[in-house]
Amino acid sequence: PRATARLHPLPLLVGALFATYYHLLVAPAPSYYQSLFLSLGSNDTAAAHLRALTVRPHLAGTEANALAADHVVSTLSSLSFPTRVTPYEVLLSYPVGRSLSLSAPGRDATAFALVQDTYPGDPYAAASAEVVPTFLAYAASGSAAAEVVYANYGRREDYAYLASRGVNVTGKVALARYGKVYRGDIVKNARDAGAAAAVIFTDPKDYTPGKAFPDGPWMPPTGVQVGSTFKGVGDPTTPMWASSEGCERVSVAKAMSTHDMPGIPALPVSGRDGEEILRLVGGDVAPEDWQGGDGAPVYRLGPGPAVLNLTYTGNETIATIQNVISVIEGKEEPDRYVILGNHRDAWTFGAADPNSGTAALLELAQRLSKLQNKGWRPRRTIILCNWDAEEYGLMLVCLVLELTHQPLLNLMSCSSRRVKRYNSRNRHVYSVNRHVYSVNSKYIQYY
Ligand SMILES: *[C@@H]1O[C@H](CO)[C@@H](O)[C@H](O)[C@H]1NC(C)=O
Ligand SMILES: *[C@@H]1O[C@H](CO)[C@@H](O)[C@H](O)[C@H]1NC(C)=O
Ligand SMILES: *[C@@H]1O[C@H](CO)[C@@H](O)[C@H](O)[C@H]1NC(C)=O
Ligand SMILES: *[C@@H]1O[C@H](CO)[C@@H](O)[C@H](O)[C@H]1NC(C)=O
Repeated sequence: PRATARLHPLPLLVGALFATYYHLLVAPAPSYYQSLFLSLGSNDTAAAHLRALTVRPHLAGTEANALAADHVVSTLSSLSFPTRVTPYEVLLSYPVGRSLSLSAPGRDATAFALVQDTYPGDPYAAASAEVVPTFLAYAASGSAAAEVVYANYGRREDYAYLASRGVNVTGKVALARYGKVYRGDIVKNARDAGAAAAVIFTDPKDYTPGKAFPDGPWMPPTGVQVGSTFKGVGDPTTPMWASSEGCERVSVAKAMSTHDMPGIPALPVSGRDGEEILRLVGGDVAPEDWQGGDGAPVYRLGPGPAVLNLTYTGNETIATIQNVISVIEGKEEPDRYVILGNHRDAWTFGAADPNSGTAALLELAQRLSKLQNKGWRPRRTIILCNWDAEEYGLMLVCLVLELTHQPLLNLMSCSSRRVKRYNSRNRHVYSVNRHVYSVNSKYIQYY
């Protein structure tokens, strides 16, 4: 009989299964560089960067923010990544004069202090004297003294409701609360409804649902939300093109008169001040979903008898801002880019928004530098960006790619909310809005 060596099928089957599913049974070892990246450094370096960046308030266009840019530049340069700081001249807005007083028939006018309190023992009380007075950037300079109308969240539907209740907003001061729409729209909707001025408050119902700072994380009674009311993106004097040196600009007067600007005087106030105003507003009781939280007065629609006298003088001025860019050149696909960016400017100290991000960016750069010293090179080019004047209107979160003549990016200012592409001569302009992109000459990809 022929002795045939028969292979038993079971070990074969097991072997085949093992080969097929091996990768599921044994997780692939994380790459050497990946685990190295995670093991390098400590939380202390990010904390030290955060402290250096936020030791002073650093509003865009101020010396303090230029010093914060220096910190970013010196950190990135010390890692031997090619780094440059590019200054741009853009239209920013600062408060020069503000006043707000409340009166009613038979009641003397009382002026609001318009100051945010520090708390006993606040280690930053001295530095907070440098914080910009509470204001709404790009609000029109002017004054209005008129009866108050309460406009809920200041949305179009809120004004439609007021009209349906026969409340005429024309010539009045609209009092609205933050929280549902962009503050630029709150002021614009007030203007469209005919209001002479707008006041926006932070309702404790929405902003202080728990213990207020310093006993908890929520907005304290005198806390005020400051911000921009510009509805466009980019430098208002260079709509849709870059604020490069010597470029064409529209006049400040023209930039301030577009529909992207609020066009009426406006001020933000604290929850405490908002409630004080509402205590003097009469008229019909506002609907349930227009009311405040526990302990708030009954909110009424007005108009009056409360009268607000608001004056505001702003300084819309061309200021210098700094964009910092650092490049880690890719090994295999150097003409494809991974862009990591964050802004630096802040209304006040900016410890959370934005510099928790900037500190993380610097920490990441330091670790990438250590990897590079051990021979690592990224596949694609990594561009680290630290933008300026985001708070005023995303001034520098955009790119100009000079693709035909230059291998790398020129990062400049331009204006567009979404990705747009323009061709001016041989220059392609892309604008990006707080996303990470990889870009090459043929296409742009979102992540
Ligand atoms: C860094 O902080 C995080 C969050 O507190 C913590 O989980 C982590 O262990 C810390 N890492 C080091 C290296 O101290
Ligand atoms: C609102 O008031 C203005 C100014 O007093 C007036 O011209 C306008 O006709 C009023 N609108 C309505 C709908 O009554
Ligand atoms: C409004 O306030 C300003 C600044 O305090 C003051 O000059 C002006 O007279 C006031 N207007 C009215 C109508 O009270
Ligand atoms: C406006 O700002 C510019 C530039 O900082 C300054 O020179 C000018 O004095 C300011 N104007 C007012 C009225 O504060």
